[in-house]
Amino acid sequence: MRAPTARQIRFVAVFSIIPVFIAAGVVLTDQGAMPIMAHGPLQSGHEGVHCESCHVPSPGTVRQQVQAKVHHVLGMRDTGGDFGYGAVTSKACLQCHERPNERHPIFRFHEPRFEKAVAQVEATSCLGCHGEHTTHRATADLTFCQACHEDLVLKTDPLDVDHAALIADRRWQTCLGCHDFHGNHAGKAPKALKEAFAPAEIEAYLRAGPSPYALPKIFEAKEELP
Ligand code: HEC
Ligand code: HEC
Ligand code: HEC
Ligand code: HEC
Ligand code: HEC
Repeated sequence: MRAPTARQIRFVAVFSIIPVFIAAGVVLTDQGAMPIMAHGPLQSGHEGVHCESCHVPSPGTVRQQVQAKVHHVLGMRDTGGDFGYGAVTSKACLQCHERPNERHPIFRFHEPRFEKAVAQVEATSCLGCHGEHTTHRATADLTFCQACHEDLVLKTDPLDVDHAALIADRRWQTCLGCHDFHGNHAGKAPKALKEAFAPAEIEAYLRAGPSPYALPKIFEAKEELP
């Protein structure tokens, strides 16, 4: 028997792959099948949030998406196209979390003067500091304030150990001990360093622990998409 040509091998390979794409297409577009695909628990607060509130189905019918993938495999397209769901973006988060009192709105950080800071901490996207399917409340570390507040000067500083001293000693892990990031917790920042929450307590909160900040929050997120 003659050995198959390279072309024949490619033909068989491509056609044996198609049913896999179709099966994947069904799983990715059937909401009932979504949990099968989940690759980790949701963080606290998101128990009631539907998969599709964050994962927006990408444009095109299943057939078009399968076709795009097949054409990609055959080398007829440069990209495979989004398959079922597009990448999660801040837009999804803001549908439920947009609030008028935001202290650090992500849109501000597109300004050129933040270019260097944003290279250090991706402050233009929720996903720069938050993930999902990890249970972590925030993926950022404690010290990222440094990216933007290195030159901070207060006209009259109310602290016992003032901001200038904290910054000179690079004690960036103290900032979140007195200030939350989004300004969404009621309560005033203390003036004595010994009243600040300990870095370990904040660290635990960023992972999945209890909130040390004053509750209730000023704005609760929407439970459902508007
Ligand atoms: C609060 C928003 C949110 C919710 C709710 C959510 N996800 Fe995700 N999911 C994400 C983010 C963020 C990622 C990381 C991928 C990325 O960066 O785009 C992700 C990644 C994934 C991935 C990996 C695919 C990839 O592109 O990396 C799968 C599969 C997935 N999610 C399934 C689910 C399922 C199933 C549910 C419902 C049980 C769900 N997700 C609910 C935000 C969410
Ligand atoms: C369908 C609405 C909805 C969407 C979409 C959504 N969330 Fe939430 N989120 C909530 C609700 C409701 C809570 C719990 C109440 C609260 O904390 O205000 C919550 C809680 C959280 C918390 C934890 C709050 C805490 O104090 O423990 C974080 C962090 C968070 N969301 C970030 C995100 C990010 C990042 C995205 C986008 C990837 C996102 N959310 C998408 C509704 C949503
Ligand atoms: C530069 C980092 C950073 C970015 C960008 C960021 N966050 Fe956060 N976020 C944090 C940190 C740190 C905390 C914990 C401190 C606090 O509670 O304010 C937090 C806490 C939260 C909480 C819980 C407390 C609250 O305010 O209700 C929610 C919800 C949240 N973030 C949503 C978002 C959403 C939605 C976006 C995008 C619009 C976003 N975050 C962008 C760092 C960030
Ligand atoms: C990507 C840049 C950036 C990062 C990172 C950042 N900030 Fe800010 N922050 C700003 C800007 C810009 C302002 C507004 C200053 C102004 O308007 O003069 C601000 C304002 C503030 C204010 C005053 C808010 C008010 O209502 O007057 C506090 C407090 C603050 N930041 C604390 C922090 C803390 C704590 C961290 C780290 C957890 C942090 N910031 C990280 C850019 C940043
Ligand atoms: C012991 C608590 C404490 C610590 C630690 C602390 N702050 Fe403050 N911070 C305050 C208080 C109190 C104010 C006065 C305004 C207020 O009440 O919010 C303030 C004000 C600010 C302001 C507003 C400045 C203005 O012009 O209005 C910024 C920005 C700020 N802090 C950032 C930081 C950063 C960055 C760090 C970490 C190096 C830090 N703070 C550490 C308590 C603290």
